[in-house]
Amino acid sequence: MNMNKSWWKESVVYQIYPRSFCDSNHDGIGDLNGIVSKLDYLKRLGIDVIWLSPVYKSPNCDNGYDISDYMDIMDDFGTMEDFDNLLSEAHRMGIKIIMDLVVNHTSDEHSWFIESKKSTDNPFRDYYIWRKGKDGLEPNNWGSCFGGSAWKYSQETDMYYLHLFADKQPDLNWDNKKVREEVYHMMTWWSDKGIDGFRMDVISMISKTKDMPDGAVGKGSFYGDFAPYVIHGPHVHEYLQEMNREVLSKYDLVTVGETAGITVDEAGKYAGFDRSELNMVFQFEHVDLDFGENGKWNDQPPQLSALKEVMSRWQTGLYGKAWNSLFWENHDQPRIVSRFGNDSEYWEKSAKMLALCLHMMQGTPYIYQGEEIGMTNFPFTSISQFRDLESINAFRELAGGRVFDDAYMMKCLNYKSRDHARTPMQWDATAYAGFSDVMPWIEVNPNYKKINTQSQIDDSHSIFQFYRKLIALRKANEIIVYGKYELLLPESEELFIYTRTHDGRKLLVMCNFTGKTQEYTVPDELVLLSRELLVSNYSDSGVENSTMLRPYEAKVYSMING
Ligand code: NOJ
Repeated sequence: MNMNKSWWKESVVYQIYPRSFCDSNHDGIGDLNGIVSKLDYLKRLGIDVIWLSPVYKSPNCDNGYDISDYMDIMDDFGTMEDFDNLLSEAHRMGIKIIMDLVVNHTSDEHSWFIESKKSTDNPFRDYYIWRKGKDGLEPNNWGSCFGGSAWKYSQETDMYYLHLFADKQPDLNWDNKKVREEVYHMMTWWSDKGIDGFRMDVISMISKTKDMPDGAVGKGSFYGDFAPYVIHGPHVHEYLQEMNREVLSKYDLVTVGETAGITVDEAGKYAGFDRSELNMVFQFEHVDLDFGENGKWNDQPPQLSALKEVMSRWQTGLYGKAWNSLFWENHDQPRIVSRFGNDSEYWEKSAKMLALCLHMMQGTPYIYQGEEIGMTNFPFTSISQFRDLESINAFRELAGGRVFDDAYMMKCLNYKSRDHARTPMQWDATAYAGFSDVMPWIEVNPNYKKINTQSQIDDSHSIFQFYRKLIALRKANEIIVYGKYELLLPESEELFIYTRTHDGRKLLVMCNFTGKTQEYTVPDELVLLSRELLVSNYSDSGVENSTMLRPYEAKVYSMING
């Protein structure tokens, strides 16, 4: 079995969404110097690596995931000097920085695209994917991820370009060698600067089939599904291996691919220990479980047994072959305590339980800003409060009785919108939660007086301190990083219980996912082992054979085998 030790297997990553983290220059938008001012805070939490959502030059149609210059910094966030300062300050404190690499598409304001659309013989024409219309309509029926057709007409040449996301995000043509060389050149430039890795945006979509037939039209949609022709396309592994040869293998970097629609087997190709592609992938099965018959827009949490099945399949499927990443939240997901926990009566207990449940698994944990203090979903009451184009477009396309009535669509948005993750980081109880001293670009969650870092940082019972403890435990206990995972009680809809085994030691991880007390009897084969309590989210948890797990109680017994 291949289980070499690596720094990135032993690290904990903290994701920063710069726009919403900390505003240092009084414009209501977070920035690079704001991040520098909070490095002490991150050091205190104990994380090893920051994943920085895009900070490149961008017209911001999708908050920086639409890049117009890969080697410059967005004005809202500062300058390249500010970036260099952030990198050196972080390194001085022993914190690494990984960049978001968004190379499935650029902005339509990127100079490549501005050239590309001018004429069919422009040298940049083949940097993007152009097709002729069919019978006066788009080349096929594909819908974009953000609503509407995935094709946009361009008058200059009477052709359409492909955009799987917004029309301001044209897809690059990875089959063009020049495109790949430009990307590798840019990655080399950042790597030479000293950055520590890349999180690769929708990397599973870079290779498209040459034929682009109509896709199947699902319920609640007006458009066809592009997935079979785009996700894990014909050359994706060839291109990633080339990228590895040309760039990644020359530096000590960590790489994580965002790979929507991935299976365990496919993950073994992207991130297999013997594949020379990426170090790990983000899979989304566990956060896609609450999709409904109309796709993402739904308002019902999944069954616990389904969540356990998915998490466990990934834990056991990758063991010894490839590496997991562990996450509940990111900038595209709602807040986990509002989603799978209880953000009212059991806010603190359930936030800690969810953290423990995830952080005792195998993989590199990712903490999304604010998760470590239990930030919750925002109580949106009007569509005018949203800033995210996905939410706004979905409301326009689906509400008003087209698929849902307005009230139900608001319910779905209140459960699922990406904007829940994007409200300003809650630092203290002063105006605008200490994020800025002027009105931020998106509203602050009204609960900031209760939920903020200042009230938690020195409180030994806080969610912050609990995350800090989980990170410290991972560092002190190899079993948490390298141990083998086994699920117990797969059918229970109340309890999530699993073990980890490594080097003569065992951990028994017990999580109550409900607001009611649940009884659990420790299996006979574990009863005789000498046990101690490693961590718990109740201060008076004990070590018993038949144990009552109180509402959202979570605890870990550590045992010596034999
Ligand atoms: C995935 C990113 O996480 C998301 O925020 C973005 O909108 C799309 N890719 C397009 O880049």
